[in-house]
Amino acid sequence: MSYKELYTERLREKFLKYMKEAFELLPEMEKPKILDLGCGSGLLTIEFAKLSNGDIIAIDIDQVLLDRLNKKIKARNLTSRILTKRMDLLKNDFPENYFDIVWEAGVVQIIGFKKSFEACHRILKVGGYLVLGQAIKTMDKNRDLITKYGFNLIKQLNWPEGCWWTEYYEPLDNKIKEIRKEKKDPHLFKNIEAIEAEIRWVKANPNESDCAYYILQKIKTKI
Ligand SMILES: C[S@@+](CC[C@H](N)C(=O)[O-])C[C@H]1O[C@@H](n2cnc3c(N)ncnc32)[C@H](O)[C@@H]1O
Repeated sequence: MSYKELYTERLREKFLKYMKEAFELLPEMEKPKILDLGCGSGLLTIEFAKLSNGDIIAIDIDQVLLDRLNKKIKARNLTSRILTKRMDLLKNDFPENYFDIVWEAGVVQIIGFKKSFEACHRILKVGGYLVLGQAIKTMDKNRDLITKYGFNLIKQLNWPEGCWWTEYYEPLDNKIKEIRKEKKDPHLFKNIEAIEAEIRWVKANPNESDCAYYILQKIKTKI
């Protein structure tokens, strides 16, 4: 893991409190089957094992990230609880009506809302939950799809306004300034100029990236 990846992952850990809050809104389930969709290096995946007694399947299309997650799983003795698979959601071979919870954070807008909703509807049990961690502006444009694809919005849990700036980009900005000032190797952060441009954009538009967790429940068998 590069210095940049380590540093940004540590910053993203601050957002786990919103994930926990959203998870606690779900009804208690004895041993839920949970799909961590687009798990990346597994920041959320490990949390699911702490928050529930469930069986967790974590999928991603990126084997490098899955390898990192596999190391974390081994180090924490969680191999009996978490299974990782290199898999594209749109080519998944899970049975129909299989999962109690499908959880995604920042993934469905990459795959496409319609196709993701359709795929998640197929693999979720009726009454199961699809939890989306999404930018509010993005979700606003796709709200009509919730009912169209057989779901009901149970709860929207907004993260604090501007928290991407205060909790992530501002500390990242300070770190990069420190690297620049101390004339440390700027390649400690790969693509440093691109990150600086992203930071400037978020600083100028602090609410554009405001996020929420959306808890949807599958209510219709067929769509
Ligand atoms: C923004 S990252 C989110 C990572 C993780 N959920 C987190 O919060 O740390 C999006 C992830 O979705 C994965 N991804 C993109 N397309 C996918 C697909 N079709 N099926 C499964 N995963 C996908 C990417 O490889 C990437 O790791």
